[in-house]
Amino acid sequence: MWPRLFVSLLALAAGERGLELLQRSLQLSRKPASTCQGWDCLKQFVSAPDGAFAWRDTGRRLKDPAWEGQVLELISQRWLPDLVTPALWNHTLVLITPKAFSAALSDAPCVLYVALGSLTAPQTAWNVEAADAELQAAAQVAHAAGAWRAAVLFNVPANFLRFGQAAPSVEDGSLSTSWALLRQDPAPRMLELPMAKATVRAMDVLGAFAGIHSFALMGTSKRGHLCWHTASVDARVKAIVPIAKALNLEPQLRLTVEELGGFPWAAFEYVSKGLFQNFTLGPHWKYFLGVTDAYYHLSRTKALPKLVISASSDDFFMPDHLKLWWPQVPEPKWSFTVPNSRHIIGGLQVTALAPVIGSFLARVKSQAMPRLEWSVEASGAISAWADEPSQVRLWQATSCDNKRMDFRQYSAKAEVCPCGVPSAEGCRTNVTWTSSELPDAMEPDGPESTGKWWVRPKDPRSGRWRAFFLEFEWPGGLRLSTEVSVVPRTVPFPDCPGSGKCEGLV
Ligand SMILES: *[C@@H]1O[C@H](CO)[C@@H](O)[C@H](O)[C@H]1NC(C)=O
Ligand SMILES: *[C@@H]1O[C@H](CO)[C@@H](O)[C@H](O)[C@H]1NC(C)=O
Ligand SMILES: *[C@@H]1O[C@H](CO)[C@@H](O)[C@H](O)[C@H]1NC(C)=O
Repeated sequence: MWPRLFVSLLALAAGERGLELLQRSLQLSRKPASTCQGWDCLKQFVSAPDGAFAWRDTGRRLKDPAWEGQVLELISQRWLPDLVTPALWNHTLVLITPKAFSAALSDAPCVLYVALGSLTAPQTAWNVEAADAELQAAAQVAHAAGAWRAAVLFNVPANFLRFGQAAPSVEDGSLSTSWALLRQDPAPRMLELPMAKATVRAMDVLGAFAGIHSFALMGTSKRGHLCWHTASVDARVKAIVPIAKALNLEPQLRLTVEELGGFPWAAFEYVSKGLFQNFTLGPHWKYFLGVTDAYYHLSRTKALPKLVISASSDDFFMPDHLKLWWPQVPEPKWSFTVPNSRHIIGGLQVTALAPVIGSFLARVKSQAMPRLEWSVEASGAISAWADEPSQVRLWQATSCDNKRMDFRQYSAKAEVCPCGVPSAEGCRTNVTWTSSELPDAMEPDGPESTGKWWVRPKDPRSGRWRAFFLEFEWPGGLRLSTEVSVVPRTVPFPDCPGSGKCEGLV
């Protein structure tokens, strides 16, 4: 979960004056327009040698009852040195070897978890301890997969970047600032590129240091996006677990506005820079999408096993938006939605997913993943097919009122708080997902249904919306879900890009 106060403070610090200074310093550092397009920009950027690349074994060792960690230092690259300080991306990279690891497991991929940097101090690299939540998360995923090795790459994106004279930024502050550079020209300066490059360099280092040449890549949020980017350019990635990152940004933004009547407050860094309002950054929008939105690179992930994890109550991504990109994702693919979870950043949130991710990886390796398929009918009903689950649950939540199709736990504007309580974080909406067990199979009773399970909850009373999905569980901790469907099949707000009527934060 975001340390929201901290992020808000940074946003304030970076405020309008910072942006103005940034615009001015950008005039000075104008670069020639790019000649690359789409995925080629990503591939070229990642492949370009960088004289700053360097790594060393620090000699530090971390001791945990179940594993030992070797602490490496990695400089992945020098990024936009004319514009950004610090220019060097300095990472801590920890290789975790379980005590139960044996040579027989050396053909298993290494779980590579890409994590953010420290959010509390402008350190260049992170002086981690064995108890660090990200290390524990990676170690537990690898343990659940069967005593595999794991590695954690920290500081992606590099934190506390100063663009021009602007205040140092982290996370969405840095990403949105890099997107805003496109107002100048279509040079490939989006933060997604160095993030992918850092990950590829980490795989190089783990190859040189420990002879590891295959990886199961996982990351949250913008590092979830990075899983797609990295897998599309590097065949050493054998499976991906992107967490809490929806693809296909343009329709996603439009549908968000139709559902909420504005943008989610969590996206304030993008909205405050005007990046989302017109669903365009100007003439370079298509160029931008082609390079950064992995939706346009999906054909490069054919045959790659994927477990896409979403949060039911994400602060950024509305729960029914998987439908905007899932059909285009090549097989083999599986989906899991974490009930009653806000946006997933890392730490304990990922640790809690260890049984699901670990059993996914183990079953992919032994080619024992069950089949799960579903379709959403015109009525909103979900029909699903699944191989022999041990349990089936229906999860559902009702929107708090009939004004917004909103299933978040926190919305902005505490003064308009129809079914919850005002809190320091905004309106605590009281929207809760509840589950009920379903029988082993249900007779299909929809005219179009041929599934083994079929559900179409009644529309809620008083014009509200009901969101629901099916969850299947198998022995060993594997859980998978269908996409989320919402009934009734109406949206409360018009599609209104550029009208200025739906630009607020809600
Ligand atoms: C990277 O960070 C580490 C730890 O803070 C520091 O000791 C090292 O000097 C940094 N490397 C560079 C090249 O800045
Ligand atoms: C959206 O587009 C309109 C018309 O081109 C423009 O006047 C307005 O400033 C834009 N809004 C933002 C936030 O960029
Ligand atoms: C929140 O939900 C619970 C359970 O549905 C309900 O009992 C309670 O009255 C709700 N609170 C508010 C403020 O609506």
